Formats: sequence, C-alpha cells, structure tokens
Amino acid sequence: MLRGELAPGERLPAVRVLAARLRVSAATAASAYRYLKIRGLVVAEGRGGTSVSQQPPLATRLAPPLPVGARNLAEGGPDPRLLPALDSVVAHLRLHPRMYGEPYNDARLLELAQRMFAVDGIVGGPIAIVGGALDGVERVLRARLRVGDRVGVEDPGYHLVFDLLKALGLSAVPIGLDGFGLLPGQLGQALKRGLDALILTPRAQNPTGAALDRARADELRRVIRAYPELLLIEDDHAGPIAGTPAFTLTGPGRARWAVVRSLSKWLGPDLRVAFLTGDELTSGRVEGWQRLGTGWVSNLLQQIVVALWSTGGTVSLIGKAAKTYQARRDALVRELACLGIEAYGRSGLNVWVPVAEEVVVVRSLLEAGWAVAAGERFRIRSTPAVRVSIGNLQAFEARRLAADFARCLAPRRAVYSA
Ligand SMILES: Cc1ncc(COP(=O)(O)O)c(C=O)c1O
Repeated sequence: MLRGELAPGERLPAVRVLAARLRVSAATAASAYRYLKIRGLVVAEGRGGTSVSQQPPLATRLAPPLPVGARNLAEGGPDPRLLPALDSVVAHLRLHPRMYGEPYNDARLLELAQRMFAVDGIVGGPIAIVGGALDGVERVLRARLRVGDRVGVEDPGYHLVFDLLKALGLSAVPIGLDGFGLLPGQLGQALKRGLDALILTPRAQNPTGAALDRARADELRRVIRAYPELLLIEDDHAGPIAGTPAFTLTGPGRARWAVVRSLSKWLGPDLRVAFLTGDELTSGRVEGWQRLGTGWVSNLLQQIVVALWSTGGTVSLIGKAAKTYQARRDALVRELACLGIEAYGRSGLNVWVPVAEEVVVVRSLLEAGWAVAAGERFRIRSTPAVRVSIGNLQAFEARRLAADFARCLAPRRAVYSA
C-alpha cells in the first residue's frame, strides 16, 4: 500500500492464503489484517474479504483547483465580510509576547470563555485554549482513549472526524440523525453494543445543519444517563453564528466529558483558537499533553482575539452573521422545496440535499458554474447526498441554484437500442 503496489479498493488475499505465502500462522496473518483495519488502511467486508481502503486517513494531496469562474460552495467556511476586520484592530494593538514560565493563557480570554460557557450552562474544570475545534477533539481523544476503542459519530458527519478516528486507530460507530440531532433509539442501541466515547455536534451539524432543541437534548441526556463512564465530546465548532441556541448533554453525573467551542466561524478561521472545558481530568490531561507539544496557543493570537472580541461592533456583527446565514440557508431550502427537492439546513453553514447519484449531480452542477461537495466523504452508512455550503451564497442566487439543481436531478431518459 505504502509503495503504491496495491490500489485503493484492491482485494487482499484471504488470511489463509497470505499465511501460507509468508509461512506464518493464520493467527499472525489475521492479527496483521486486524491491525491494518484499526489503522484505517483496509476495510473488512465480512464474506467479501478485505480490501485496501478507498480513502487513506491522512490526506497527502490538496484537492484539485476549481475551474475558473466556478462559484465555490464546497468549503463550509464563513463569509469573510461577516468576520470582524483584523487590520484596524491589530494596527492599534500593543502586543506583549510571553516568555517561558509566564502564565500560558491570557487571563482576559479565559474569563471571556468561562462567561460564555457559563451562560449556556456548561460548567467544568480548567479551561484550555486549543488550536481550533478539531485540535480540541483530537486532544481529548488522545488524552482519554486507546487504539481500538469505539467512538459513536453522527452519520452523516464531519469527514475530518472520520479520518481522525481512523488515523488514531479508533473505531467509528455510525449513528443516524434527523434535523434535531442524533436519533435517541439508534444512540441507545449503539450504547448497548458498547461505546467508549460519543462525538456530538450540538448545532451547525456538518453536513446536515442539524441542531439540538431542548426536547431532543433532554431525551439524549436520558439515554446516556445509564452510561456514566461514556466519554462525551461536544464539538460546538460554529458557536454563536449557528443560528440556534446552545444545548448541552453535559451536567452533573457525567464523569468524562469535554466541550470544544471554536472561534473560527465568527472571529476567523486563521486565528486557530478554540476554548475547551471538561471534567477536571480531561481538561487537565489536554493541557498536560499540550505542554509536551506546542506548549500553548500563542499568546499573541490570544491577545488579538481579546482585542477583536472587545472592539465595538464585533458583538453586533456576530448577531448579523447568524441572521445572514439563516437567511441564506432558508432561501436555498425554500427555493429547492418550491421545485419539489428535499433539503436540510436547520442551522450553520451547510445545506444537505439527498440525491440518487452524487457524482452525476456534482459534475452537472459544476458545468452550470456551481462547485458543491459530494456527500461520500461525510457518510458511513447513510444514503447519498450533496453538501452545499451557504456561507458565501447570496440569497438572490438561491433561485438560480435551485433551478440548476432541478435540471441536474431530472430523470434522464434511458435510450434502449435493439
Ligand atoms: C463539525 C466540525 N468540527 C470542526 C470543524 C473545524 O473547526 P476548526 O477550524 O475550529 O478546527 C468544522 C469545520 O467546519 C466542523 O464542521
């Protein structure tokens, strides 16, 4: 595989055949396959045998550039015009670089984080500053789990979380969801079969836009109550621009948990700053491991974040961004519905449109000038769809995009020859 001699999707020899060829026991060959599966390099398909994974867990190449002129609705990011302007803030800032031995984190930033969590009823141990939501999720997984552990994930879900689990040798257990988040029945079944951890996106779920409401959050909390040792990780990557309130399953009685709230979507992804809190041990271990690597998130960045956040106009810009994204999601879902096309997007920066053939739709939309993401990377067992990122989609473009969707989805007439 590493030498490129085995192509993605290629079948590996049966365990007994490999064992005979290499003159090792069948148990040794089987354990090698198990190891490759845990590392995400092969997939076992029961009687279908074992084949090389279609998607290696670590991407080594960037996606090819889009054709010139295509509207990029494939990235899932915020609209740069709805982020506070850095230049004017940085120009007036007097930065204080830290030295070794000084406090790692900016006290004002920790206070802002603590207040933000407390308002949403999230009260935990120490607050860590990490390099974005995904960095926080990775640190919690590394701090608390071991190779082979089973992690419940939303399906459809965030493809980088799927890749991260593979790369860490953790096993993803797909759990279905609807517009209000994980389905309690499916979560209950997964817990009965055994889960060590659960990663949940409370709002702005990527790619479906699902968001918890109070009723679903209460229901899910009841389902997990019988499993106090479950490690619960909440990935609030979009925070206040999600367009729905923050609900959490954390609270008294939960021994192992973490909530990560990123600033990427409302102050800017290039700041690479997110807040993390959790039970004492989890937060403490995350910080402990951080000291053994990068040490801390640059205090220069932390000071810029405090300045950006405290600048007059930022808070109202965040409110405006939430409303604007909501208008963009609603416009697209409404225009698609007018043409009889089902779509989901209750919160966040994406709309999820079920389709029969992802590649055909992605290609046809690209020919019409729209780049959207095929759903394949975001799915484990769920059915095909494409993801439209609405961060930069102007409400007036929604009608034309919906009409182009309708043309791509129209049944193609089959031609039979004698
Ligand atoms: C569910 C989810 N988690 C994490 C991230 C990454 O966030 P960050 O840039 O803060 O690492 C994203 C990005 O869109 C996401 O959709």
